[in-house]
Amino acid sequence: MKVVPTNTGFGAHVTNLELGNLTEAEVTELRNVWLAHQVLAFPDQPMTHAMLEAFTLRLGEFGHDPYVAPIDGHQNILEVRREPDEKVAPFGSAWHSDWSFQEKPPAATLLHAKEIPPVGGDTWYADGYAAFEALEPQTRDYLCSLTALHSARRPYSHQGFIAGRGPERSMQILPSDSALEVMEHPLVRTHPETQRKVLWINQVYTIGIKGLDADKSNELLKRLLAHSVEERFVYKHRWFTNMLTLWDNRSVQHFAQGGYDGHRRVLHRTIVAGDRPF
Ligand code: SIN
Repeated sequence: MKVVPTNTGFGAHVTNLELGNLTEAEVTELRNVWLAHQVLAFPDQPMTHAMLEAFTLRLGEFGHDPYVAPIDGHQNILEVRREPDEKVAPFGSAWHSDWSFQEKPPAATLLHAKEIPPVGGDTWYADGYAAFEALEPQTRDYLCSLTALHSARRPYSHQGFIAGRGPERSMQILPSDSALEVMEHPLVRTHPETQRKVLWINQVYTIGIKGLDADKSNELLKRLLAHSVEERFVYKHRWFTNMLTLWDNRSVQHFAQGGYDGHRRVLHRTIVAGDRPF
C-alpha cells in the first residue's frame, strides 16, 4: 500500500490496494495508517453497495443512523445527494462530527463518491488533536474539567427541520422529538485507540457547556469553535468520482462545501460504531 500524506499536517491518499480483497494483515496495517493520518482518501475504487458494506464491516460493526432515510434495501447506507436545481444548503454544510449527540457516536465515517460536480463540493476536515495541542497548558487543563452538551435539535427537531428547509431537500430527513434530548460528553475526549486528547465540540450539535451560565457558555463555545477550525488545522479535500474517504470521527470535524449549483453531487455514506467518549 502506498501512503502519501497531504501537505496540511493530517490526511493521506492511499493507493496500491484493493479494498474488496484485503488480508487481515492489510486491514491491521490500514487501521494503523488511518489512526495516524485521521482522514484517508482512496482514489479510483469503484464500489457496489455490497462492497461498501463489506469494507465497512472489516473496520467494525455498523453504527446507527437516525434522522435520515437509508437507501432502499440497504439500511446502513445513506445517500448524500443534492440535485442541480436544489436551493437548500448542502447536507452537512456546517462543522460537525457525525452524530456527536449519540451516547456512543460513530468511530469512523466512510463516504464513497458516485457523482462529483466539476466545481465546488469539497469536504473540509479539521484536526481536533492539533486544535487541542495548540492551546496554552493552563487552558487545556481547564477545558479537560468541562462537560459539553450535545443535541440534534438544531437540524433534526421538527422546528429545526422546517427552519433548515428540510422539506425542500432531495434527501429524506426524518425529524423527531427525540432530537430534543441532550447528551453529555467531555469537552476534551481521550481517543480510545491513540490515547491522544481531542478538542471535541462542533458547531452543529454542541449546544452548551454544563454548569456555566448561558452567556459564559456561549462566549467560551464561540471562542473554542472558532479556534478548532482555524485554517492551520484544516485539510480541504477535493473529490473525484469513485473516490472513497474514511475518517476518524473521534478526532476530526468536517464540513461539506457548496459552490456547485447547477450540478448534481451524490455520495454514499456508512458509519462504524464507536464507544462512549471519555
Ligand atoms: C456529511 O456531513 O456526512 C456529508 C459530507 C459531505 O457531503 O461532504
